[in-house]
Amino acid sequence: MDRVQIFDTTLRDGEQSPGATMNVEEKLAIARQLEHLGVDVIEAGFAASSEGDFEAVRRVADAVSRPIVLSLARTREQDVDRAIRAVERAKRPGIHIFIATSDIHLKHKLMMSRKDVLDAAVWAVTRAKKHLDYVEFSAEDASRSDPEYLIEVFSAVIEAGARTINVPDTTGYALPEEYGALFRRLRERVTGADRVIWSAHCHNDLGMAVANSLAAVQNGARQIECTVNGIGERAGNTAMEEVVMAIKTRGDRFGVDTGIVTEQIYPTSRLLAQITGLTVPFNKPIVGDNAFAHEAGIHQDGVLKHRLNYEIMRPESVGLDSNRLVLGKHSGRHAFVARLRELGLDTTDVDMNVVFERFKALADAKKSVYDEDLIALVAQQSVRGGASDRYVLTYLNVTSSSMAVPHATVKLKIDGEEVMGAGTGDGMVDACYKVIDDLTGQHPRLERYAVKAITGGTDAQGEVSCLVSEAGITVLGQGSHTDIIQASALAYLNALNRLAYRRLHRQQVQTAEVGP
Ligand code: KIV
Ligand code: ZN
Repeated sequence: MDRVQIFDTTLRDGEQSPGATMNVEEKLAIARQLEHLGVDVIEAGFAASSEGDFEAVRRVADAVSRPIVLSLARTREQDVDRAIRAVERAKRPGIHIFIATSDIHLKHKLMMSRKDVLDAAVWAVTRAKKHLDYVEFSAEDASRSDPEYLIEVFSAVIEAGARTINVPDTTGYALPEEYGALFRRLRERVTGADRVIWSAHCHNDLGMAVANSLAAVQNGARQIECTVNGIGERAGNTAMEEVVMAIKTRGDRFGVDTGIVTEQIYPTSRLLAQITGLTVPFNKPIVGDNAFAHEAGIHQDGVLKHRLNYEIMRPESVGLDSNRLVLGKHSGRHAFVARLRELGLDTTDVDMNVVFERFKALADAKKSVYDEDLIALVAQQSVRGGASDRYVLTYLNVTSSSMAVPHATVKLKIDGEEVMGAGTGDGMVDACYKVIDDLTGQHPRLERYAVKAITGGTDAQGEVSCLVSEAGITVLGQGSHTDIIQASALAYLNALNRLAYRRLHRQQVQTAEVGP
């Protein structure tokens, strides 16, 4: 069976989702999980865009061994050289060079002629090729570019040594039939087309990213660029879990395969949601809470009689074990670690003593500890275990009644020093956030606040996500706890830590050309 490569861009295009910025430790946790998942290529960032991105690409390059690790780069000398340096320690390094090819972008963004763009593309690929064998070239806004010009550009960069040719639908404008036909035409007409891997990169503005990617596969594409949970610019990118399961479930039509360990899909999805705070909609295909839930009586009856009546995929095949009860307060460390391994969770950088202690506390607070709880525990450790945490919650006491004004007492460690404060507010969360603001001297705007139960049951952990912004930086904070006020405080502090991190690694060069 022909293999379709899965190119994961969660850490680059995915991170361009509003509020999805991750720090280095968080990116490493995701990258390691992506390796477990079996992706072929990890786009770890855009090294020239900031010190933080450079460092993240470098650390991901060190941390994984099987997938190719790439950095994005414009066709500029500084970008190409920075990208090459960032991946130099990777076992399988690569670079992803892009420049726009549509007349709209040439005229209104790059202010370059077609010849200038062609020359820049060939120059950059040639330069990269001197240092790296794996060079991917993308023609940004390809789906709105003149196909004859695309043929010229792609033929030239293949001649210069590009090994993968990406045809992005940058604005999510294409329709599946059109996008498929474009691949057919390019593969027929581009010189050297049979020497390269053809790649699809779709955005979801019209809800067609997955359909377009699959149409590309039906017309010879052998790489799909996608993100976990479909996160990304605006409406997002092609959702990895959806294309992978479509290819697997409808193998009869596609006749191709991917190297994805599908049982790792659900843990990966949950880990990303936990780390970024971008929660997955209930009805999201494959990984949404309702994706395998049969509600109607007729359906339940049908599934009980025979699963195939209403189920086209088994929940187990994506790593979902219907909230299987795994551990309780009597479980020992051995069983705990073994279950984390069974779930495929990467614990390389996790302090097991801390996580096990948290598990024990959770098992005490909650009757049943589910797989989702364990994923949250590990994610929290990746989120908060990072050296970049300025603010750490050490104590919280919040009181409220129908007769009294809500009151909060909070103790924090700020850069290692303990501080304490107290105050009132319009509700328990407000009281708690006001005290935290006073203690940290931070007063960001709370744009959005949401709470969701991680599993069923009144003793479930609450998962709080809050979107905050300050001086043009927007970040999402996330926290979970059986007590939702504690979860709220953890989420807010997580957001403040992200803000502090973002301020420290403010983007150093103008990244406007990364494009949609
Ligand atoms: O959408 C796009 O065109 C991109 C390129 C940088 C590949 O993300
Ligand atoms: Zn993109």
